[in-house]
Parts: sequence; structure tokens; C-alpha cells
Amino acid sequence: MYKLAVLTGGSSGIGLAVARELVKSGTSVILIARRPGPLAEAKASLEQIISGSSSAEVKVRTLALDVSDSRDVKRKLPPFLDETGIPDLLYNGAGIAYPNHFESIPEEMFRQTMEINLGGTWNILSAVIPLMKAAGGGTVVNVSSLAGLIGTYGYTAYAASKFALVGLSQSLRNEMKPDGIDVRILCPPDTDTPQLAEEEKTKPEETRKISGNAGVMAPETVARVLLKGLHRRRFMIIPGFMGKITWLLYRLFPSLVHYLIDSDVRSVRKT
Ligand SMILES: NC(=O)c1ccc[n+]([C@@H]2O[C@H](COP(=O)([O-])OP(=O)(O)OC[C@H]3O[C@@H](n4cnc5c(N)ncnc54)[C@H](OP(=O)(O)O)[C@@H]3O)[C@@H](O)[C@H]2O)c1
Repeated sequence: MYKLAVLTGGSSGIGLAVARELVKSGTSVILIARRPGPLAEAKASLEQIISGSSSAEVKVRTLALDVSDSRDVKRKLPPFLDETGIPDLLYNGAGIAYPNHFESIPEEMFRQTMEINLGGTWNILSAVIPLMKAAGGGTVVNVSSLAGLIGTYGYTAYAASKFALVGLSQSLRNEMKPDGIDVRILCPPDTDTPQLAEEEKTKPEETRKISGNAGVMAPETVARVLLKGLHRRRFMIIPGFMGKITWLLYRLFPSLVHYLIDSDVRSVRKT
């Protein structure tokens, strides 16, 4: 399907699950994240999959990089891609989330969330899009969230960054189409990853009650739905029935969704 994919946030969770599916289908991958330890572990786990298959030419490379540091991205990524070749798939999945009540989210946390989730995506796009254009095209997946479509209780900073990614992706889609670059947006619901486990530490009780209604998806399922969505040339990919129905309900009956959210909040505050 694809020859070479760059995956930011490829060392963990959904990004690693996507990398797994890609190497299984014969795509070489470049994993980008900040910490070398998890990158090395992810590389080893992917190489194990490759060694058990017939696709020995599939390569796994890693690049330790903070996507929010635009100078670092400019300095490290283009020379790296000079060596490896230009990717035909870019997956922008690096992200963080810090849920809490609005007054309990430190300004620094808000800044970091915007700088990594939105700024990081912008920085990587800025480095890769010109190369993809020169190479004749490619596919870009930006990772938003269901919380980037429906403002979720406790996720003010995160939702701001993820809504922004939807706007960025819609505009970019229209702009890149004539240059042969397909831009897509992935909006997963709650998915069982280290990030979700981390969120549990600060997630307000009200958020737990509201999101508890939707369940949690496996990262492998999200990855498979993404690849299927790419194959079907979908712009917005929302994995899972509950995610899709929630989005549909919100578009058709926003007052009903607000009513359900308010009821959950009231029930938590009564106890
Ligand atoms: N899990 C969910 O419920 C859920 C739902 C909807 C959307 N999402 C989105 O899906 C994406 C992946 O989330 P996940 O749950 O799979 O999280 P995860 O397991 O915590 O993985 C996050 C990845 O991003 C990397 N990363 C974070 N900050 C970075 C930075 N500044 N520079 C480079 N890499 C960075 C992490 O590696 P290092 O820490 O080593 O840098 C890691 O590889 C995120 O954008 C998230 O917002 C997740």
C-alpha cells in the first residue's frame, strides 16, 4: 500500500499500533518521539514482526525529536529524510492530554498542549509537505480526537488543540488536493493507551461519568479502522460505532447531547 511512513508518536499507543499494521502490510516506517528508550523498544517489537514474515526489505528507523521544537524539527528531519527517501505517508500522532477542571489546568500545561498537539503537527507538516510536493504527492493523517469534534467536560486545553487540528486539516485538505497530497483526520474516541492511563490521574469525576458511556477501544482496532478509512479515501475517520453515533447525534441534536451531558454532571455533583 505505502512504501515509507513517518509516524510521530510512533513509539507508543495508537501510533505504535498503526506502525505494526503498516509493517505487516510491507511499509517501512520511521518512528518519531522524544524518548530514545521507548523508541528502541518499539523498533525491536516491529523488527520481530518483520523477522517472522517474508518482508525482509521492510525497514524500521527511529528519530528522537521533540515535535514542538521547530528548530530541532528543521535541523533534524529534512537531512534524515534525505537519507531514507521521502515518505508517501505522514502520520502526525504525537500528542499529550491533561484533563482537569478549567481552573486546575496550569497555564504551562495549556501552552504545552497547544505547542505539542497543534504546534508539533504544524512543525512536522512544514518540514514534510514541501518534500512530498516535490516528490509528486502523498498522504497525511493528522490525529485529532472525538474531543476535537465535541467539547468534552474537563478537556478545555486538549479540546482547544484538537478542534484546531480539525480546522487545520480541513483547510490543508483543500489546499493540497491539486498537488496530489491527500490530507485526512483521525478522530478516535477513548482508546486503551498509556496516555489514557495517565489521564486517569487528573480526570474529573464528571468526565469519567460522561465518557464511561462510550467505552474504550483497543489501539489495534483504531489502527485497522484508520488503514481501512485511508483505503476508502475517507477525509474524516471516526473509529467505532459509539464515536460515530455520538458525532452524528451532536450534529443533528446538539441540545439533546448537552442535556445528556448536563444530566451526568448533575448526577455526579449530587453524590
Ligand atoms: N488514547 C486515547 O484515548 C486517544 C483518543 C483520541 C485521540 N488520541 C490521540 O492519539 C494520539 C496518540 O495518543 P496515545 O493515546 O496513543 O498516546 P501515547 O501512548 O501516550 O503516545 C503518545 C506518543 O506521542 C509521543 N510524543 C508526545 N509528545 C511528543 C513530543 N513533544 N514530540 C515527539 N513525540 C511526542 C510519545 O513519545 P515521547 O513521550 O517519548 O515523546 C508517544 O510516542 C495523540 O495525539 C492523542 O491525543 C488519543
